[in-house]
Amino acid sequence: MKFHVLIACCLLTLPILAHAQLSPIEAAIERQSGMKSADDAMTIIKRAIETNSDLDTATLYARAIADWARKMTALFPPNSGRSAGLKSAALDDIWTDPAEFNRRLARLMDDAAALARALRADDPSARPAALAQTADACRSCHLKFRADF
Ligand code: HEC
Repeated sequence: MKFHVLIACCLLTLPILAHAQLSPIEAAIERQSGMKSADDAMTIIKRAIETNSDLDTATLYARAIADWARKMTALFPPNSGRSAGLKSAALDDIWTDPAEFNRRLARLMDDAAALARALRADDPSARPAALAQTADACRSCHLKFRADF
């Protein structure tokens, strides 16, 4: 399990460390792999809640998602979406309505941080709702800013 955590945490944080000099195509590749890691993290958190086990690990994943959301703007440089011809589902609204996009990122950051707190709390009853809230933060951004293939 430890090894697994290390991999996911690296996947979630590495792109961020390297973001400064990323070209549009590199940014698209990095954010897509970060999104996939976030998806895996959500699956692991869901399982931890269902089985009421591995909650410390799940907390690390939730924090990693929050941290990733905080820094993700850097992975969406101009001209890195599908209209620039890249293999990407990122829609132009990201760049024409950045305030709204950043609000969605901030929402994910808050929801994932709240999820981490719910995972650490003794009372398990708030965990499913906190997970659903975070999943909705992902989904609501996709509905507006990601192309539906
Ligand atoms: C602020 C907006 C936003 C939020 C929040 C967000 N995403 Fe995304 N997501 C996107 C965009 C835009 C793309 C398309 C990126 C691309 O193709 O370049 C995407 C793509 C993806 C993909 C497909 C990656 C691929 O190309 O294979 C997955 C999986 C995904 N997101 C999962 C998640 C999960 C899980 C969360 C929440 C923990 C999340 N996303 C939160 C905007 C968001």
